[in-house]
Order: sequence, then C-alpha cells, then structure tokens
Amino acid sequence: MEARGELRVGFVGAGRMAHGLVQGMVRAGKVKAAHVLASAPSDRNLGAFQDLGCGTTHCNSEVLQHCSLVFLATKPHLLPGVLQEISPAITPDHVIVSVAAGVNLQTLQQLLPSRTKVLRIMPNLPCVVQEGAVVFARGDWAGEQEAARLKDLLSACGLCEETPEAYIDIHTGLSGSGIAYVYLFAEALAEGAVKMGMPGPLAKKMAAQTLLGAAKMILETGEHPAKLRSDVCTPGGTTIHGLHELEKGALRATVMNAVEAATTRAHELGKK
Ligand SMILES: NC(=O)c1ccc[n+]([C@@H]2O[C@H](COP(=O)([O-])OP(=O)(O)OC[C@H]3O[C@@H](n4cnc5c(N)ncnc54)[C@H](OP(=O)(O)O)[C@@H]3O)[C@@H](O)[C@H]2O)c1
Repeated sequence: MEARGELRVGFVGAGRMAHGLVQGMVRAGKVKAAHVLASAPSDRNLGAFQDLGCGTTHCNSEVLQHCSLVFLATKPHLLPGVLQEISPAITPDHVIVSVAAGVNLQTLQQLLPSRTKVLRIMPNLPCVVQEGAVVFARGDWAGEQEAARLKDLLSACGLCEETPEAYIDIHTGLSGSGIAYVYLFAEALAEGAVKMGMPGPLAKKMAAQTLLGAAKMILETGEHPAKLRSDVCTPGGTTIHGLHELEKGALRATVMNAVEAATTRAHELGKK
C-alpha cells in the first residue's frame, strides 16, 4: 500500500470539506500533495484537487488500495452505499475517518468490516481557511497512535481536540452552526456602524477584524471571556453603555438558546 514512513491520505468524496482539509494538510507540509488521492463520481470537484497536485480517480476502492488513512467525505445519506462498496478493500492496516455529520461510530462500525480502526471527526467550514474548529472521537479499535496521527494532521486545518462522541452534536451546535451566528453578529455590528455613517465596505472589514481580534485575545490570553469583557468597561464609558443595550436584547440567553436548538436538531437528525 505505502512504503514505511510515507503517509498516503485518501478522500472518498471530494467536495468542499474534503478540499478544505487537504488544502490545510498540504500547505502545512503534513502530507505531500502527490501522496493524496481523492475519488468522486464526477469531475465536478476533482480539478481543484489536481490543481493542488493531488491524484484523483472515479474509483473509490482505488483510494483504499493506495492509501492507509482514508477520509470518508460524501454526504451522510450516501455513506452506507459507499461503505458497502469499499468494505472488501479495507484491511487491518487502514484507518478510516468519517467526516459525515450525524453518522455515529456504532453505525460506522456495524457497516465496516469487524475491528476496523475508525474515527469520526466534526469539522466546521473555516477549515477551508485553516482556522477550523474540529473535534474527533475514536471507535473501539482505534488507539492512541491513530488519534495522535489524526490530531497532528488536522492541526493543519485549525484547532483540533479529541472528545467523547457525545460532544460531537454539541460541537455542531457550537462551532458548525455557530459560524452562522457569528456572521449574523458581524453583519449587525457593521450595520450599526453604517447607521452611524461609516461606509459599508469599511464597516464590514472592521467588524470582521474586531471578531478576529477578540477571538485571538481569548485563545492567546487564556482568560475567561467575562474577564476580558469587564476589562474593556471603563466606568461610565462607551462600552458599558453598548453592553447595556445587548443585555436589554437578551443577547446571552438568545445565543445559549441557539446552541441548544442546533444541538437538539443535530441529535434528532443523527437518529433518522
Ligand atoms: N460543509 C460543512 O461545513 C461540513 C461540516 C461538517 C461536516 N460536513 C460533512 O462533510 C461531508 C461532505 O460535505 P461537503 O459539504 O464537502 O459536501 P459536497 O461538497 O457535496 O461533497 C460531496 C462529495 O461527495 C462526492 N460523492 C457523491 N457520491 C459519491 C460516491 N458514491 N462515492 C464517492 N464520492 C461521492 C461528490 O461527488 P461530485 O464531486 O461528483 O459531486 C462530492 O465530491 C458531509 O458528510 C457533511 O456532513 C460538512
């Protein structure tokens, strides 16, 4: 399959998420583009992989023949058929990583040959700009070594943490759907500035940079967001006046409700 030490990474399904993950791994030098092979039924998305220097094929089993670490990145409803197709090509040396939302480890293990090393990851879209928030959980036969290798690879795509599988739906509510809440907030920040007279394009850029800077402060200082927030509040100053308006609009409770609603929905969809 592959010479010792020469990791070959496969993708069954070559859409947006697969491309984002590959781009991060290749740019960070975690894997050589020539050592990546991606499959999809049509040529629609394969050109983007070829542009990165990756190999492509229309044959899913070929990916298993050439790669030991294989990401499954088709839409979730197609996964059972794909697993049936590739199962004869899976050996004990393979590590299978499912990206499919809502397909749990128990289902994957039932559909794969017995004792297959399988892990499940939940990325979010900013993986395409290498600032994703990714969690992953291990199946029964995947060990420390497989988890460490996956974490190292995915660190090229953003922040990556191993968690119990039960956290994956919560991560979907927090970070998968969460980017949309943040876009809404960015839009509102910018609209506020436009209302006060700033040109729209400048307001949009400054709103995005404000979110980026605030996020970086949380990650780099390790401080609780509440502490950072209170540090910005001069008594009688501008920020506390603005925050009072957000509290009147129940921003915190609303955002908590949003994470709860999306988590519950992820759970429901996973049961279907
Ligand atoms: N996008 C996100 O933000 C996100 C976040 C978390 C998890 N995910 C998960 O990531 C997975 C992929 O999502 P996506 O947004 O990247 O979807 P996508 O852009 O629609 O890509 C799906 C890919 O699967 C290919 N495909 C379809 N049938 C196939 C088959 N029988 N065998 C092999 N490949 C097949 C498609 O082929 P063609 O190129 O020929 O169309 C396409 O390349 C999903 O399971 C989703 O739940 C996505």
